[in-house]
Order: sequence, then structure tokens, then C-alpha cells
Amino acid sequence: MRLSQYFLPTLRDTPAEAQIVSHRLMLRAGLVRQQAAGIYSWLPLGLRVLRRIEAIVREEQNRAGAIELLMPTLQSAQLWRESGRYDDYGAEMLRIVDRHERDLLYGPTNEEMVTDIFRSTVRSYRDLPLNLYHIQWKFRDEIRPRFGVMRGREFLMKDAYSFDLDEAGARAAYNRMFVAYLNTFARMGLRAVPMRADTGPIGGDLSHEFIILAETGESQVFCDRQLVDMPPPGDVDFRSDLQPIVEARTALYAATEEMHDATRFEREVPEERRLSARGIEVGHIFYFGDKYSKAMNATVHGPDGVERPVQMGSYGIGVSRLVGAVIEASHDEAGIVWPDAIAPFDVAVLNLRAGDGATDAAAQHAYDTLGRSGLEALLDDTAERPGAKFSVMELIGIPWQLVIGPNGLARGVVELRHRASGERHELSLESALSKLGSR
Ligand SMILES: Nc1ncnc2c1ncn2[C@@H]1O[C@H](COP(=O)(O)OP(=O)(O)O)[C@@H](O)[C@H]1O
Ligand SMILES: [Mg+2]
Repeated sequence: MRLSQYFLPTLRDTPAEAQIVSHRLMLRAGLVRQQAAGIYSWLPLGLRVLRRIEAIVREEQNRAGAIELLMPTLQSAQLWRESGRYDDYGAEMLRIVDRHERDLLYGPTNEEMVTDIFRSTVRSYRDLPLNLYHIQWKFRDEIRPRFGVMRGREFLMKDAYSFDLDEAGARAAYNRMFVAYLNTFARMGLRAVPMRADTGPIGGDLSHEFIILAETGESQVFCDRQLVDMPPPGDVDFRSDLQPIVEARTALYAATEEMHDATRFEREVPEERRLSARGIEVGHIFYFGDKYSKAMNATVHGPDGVERPVQMGSYGIGVSRLVGAVIEASHDEAGIVWPDAIAPFDVAVLNLRAGDGATDAAAQHAYDTLGRSGLEALLDDTAERPGAKFSVMELIGIPWQLVIGPNGLARGVVELRHRASGERHELSLESALSKLGSR
């Protein structure tokens, strides 16, 4: 992409309305634009990050055996009357009436709809286990939308729903999502800690929130420090028994405020390992048994021929919230520092003197070569002065900057800068390109 032909509306000044660093940086770097309270447009650079996060979530869900579908944002109120949640959900639900006076709602979650799909198609235990997910916009009329995309009213969520014959099957499904979540967040450069959580309006008796530690987090959390440093499970066989992996993480103390038990915390965790901190909830998983299947009559025939309500769980990831959460975890005074895996571009090529024949040719050659190695490059071919180019690149946080100027070229060198470490190296253009290409 050539910056001269791109749409990257960055802001020099800090927007007054933004209270936390990720929100400020998202506005300044031109990732999003607010359209109404808690409702955002995703500008091209922000959309690239959102899509990369989505792709990682999708890959890890597929690897764990979940199957993608796409349900609509608008739902019929009828389904929610069946489960009893139409009245229970309260003011957070955005209710809509169509021209035929039928009650609709903008879905805040999809348990009812997916249960309806299930009951109208699946009859037998032979079709289980089944886990269906989608990545779709949700709407919750939050009383206090704030912190930009972290607590929006419209937000993108991955939500998966598992169906099993019995509790043992449902727990295995829960474990698969638990492990998939650890790997998913690790790939984004985040250390997410699973914590015992309240089940809230979803209901049920087993639930974990996946929390990343950050001072600006909305939740108060308590855990054993060892959990924060535990490496992700990595490449596991999802057909095997995952209970030992889950147990290794759930044996140590970790709880959100609602579930916190100070006495147990002090008894189980040695003082130097007690961590009490703020956290951002990036994912939340629930096992709720037959809560919806019973109310909505979603049953299957078991091997014994007996018909029983299917056992369910649901599993959410805040895809759009993650963009803000990653920035909270990875930034400095100059701007965002994207982890490689979700950066909007892999490399920025800075042409320090656009219009100069030799510099243009070298920058163009760099851009073409990087493209051939499968890297996404953003070529700054604008006539801005070098200082302004550097500060925009620092702000938008692309992992590598390849700086090409007439003075360096006269000496046969370019400069390669690494955004995260701040390291800079002068080397020939060809070595810089082969270094980048071999990463
Ligand atoms: N208002 C919101 N804005 C952005 N992301 C949200 C919002 N509400 C929930 N999420 C994300 O969706 C995930 C699943 O939501 P869920 O646990 O059902 O919601 P809640 O925690 O608000 O009850 C959360 O872990 C969070 O990452
Ligand atoms: Mg939650």
C-alpha cells in the first residue's frame, strides 16, 4: 500500500474525550471513529487489525473442532420469550419493531437462536458433539459505554455454542475451548489468565473469564502469580483428554471480584505470589447444562433410545475489545507497538526524499521485493518531512521500519528499525530485504 494513495487520518493532538491510552491511540492513529456513544466506524488501518485478530480466533476455533456459521444480527423476540430472557434481559437489549408490528431485537448474544437451529436439525446423539460458532456484531445498550471499543454498545464477538449428550461430553467441550482460548490469546502476544467467574445472566455453574492484566482494566482480580507466567499449551491433540491441561491452570487460585474469597486466597497462595490487580476480560466461557435446551425443548435421543435435553455451553471472545486490549498491553510514549501477528502491516518503507530518482527507485524496489516475499508493506511515498514521517510511523506501530534516504544510499546503506526494541541497524538494502524476507 502506498501512503499517498491510502486513507490514514491520523491526529496530532490527543482527543479530550479519551480517558485511557488505548482509546487515545486508536483515535490518534486513525483506527476508529466514533459515530454515536459506543458505536464506531472502523477506518482502514483499524479494520486490518480487527481482521487479523478475527483470523487468529477463527483458526484456533477451527483447530479445536468448532464449526463456523453466520447468524443474523436481528433476531425475533419470539425466541427470547421462549427462554424467558425477553423480559429478564432488561434495558441492555435494543428492541425494534418492524413495519408489520413484529418485535425484533438486535442480538446481544445468540444462545436462543443457535438452540433453535439445533432443535430443528439434530435428533440423535450420533450427531454429537457439535460446536457451532460465528463472529458477528452484537448490540448491548450499555448504561455507560466508555474506553472506546473496550466497552462499546455495538461490538464484534466470537461466540461459540457446544452441544453434548451428557455432562462428561459437555465438560470435554468446555476443556477444548479453554485450551483453544489460551492458544488464541498467546498468538496475539497476550498473557490471558483464566479466572473463576460468575455466570451472570447466561446462567449455569461453571465459568471462567480470560483476563489480561492492565491498570486500566475494569475488573479487580486476584490470582497466583505463577499463572501469569505459564506458557500456552500450544500444539495439542484436541481428541485427547485435556483435563490435565485445564487442571494445571485451575488448581492455582484465580478469581474475579465477584468470586473472590479472601480467606481462601491467603490460605492457598504464599504471600509473595499473591497478585491483586486490575484486568481486562477478553473472553468468557460458560457451561450451563440444559438451561436453554430444556426451556426451548432441544432434545436428542441417546444410545438407549431415551430422549433428553442436550447439554450446552457458550464461549465468547471480545474481538473488537481485543484491539484496545492489545494496545493497553503494548505501547510506549510514541504510540502503539503492534505484536507481529496482528500488526496492520508487517513493514513500513520510508522514502525520506520522494521525488529524488535514486531514493524513489530504491524504495520502489524494496516495496516490490517485500511484496514478493509475502510481506505486507506500507510505503510512505509522501512529500512530508522526515520528522513527521517518523512520528506517524512510531504512532501507528508497524513492527519494522525500513528507512531509505539519499544520504544513506550514497554510502550504500539503509536503516532498519525495530519498533518494539527501538534497535536500529545500518546495512545494505539487499541485506535488509533478505533479513525481513527470512523472518
Ligand atoms: N460492551 C462490550 N464492548 C466490547 N466487548 C464486549 C462488551 N461486552 C462484552 N464484550 C466482550 O465479549 C465477551 C463475551 O461477553 P460476555 O461475557 O457475554 O459479556 P459480559 O462480560 O459483559 O457479561 C467478553 O469477554 C468481552 O470480551
Ligand atoms: Mg463476561
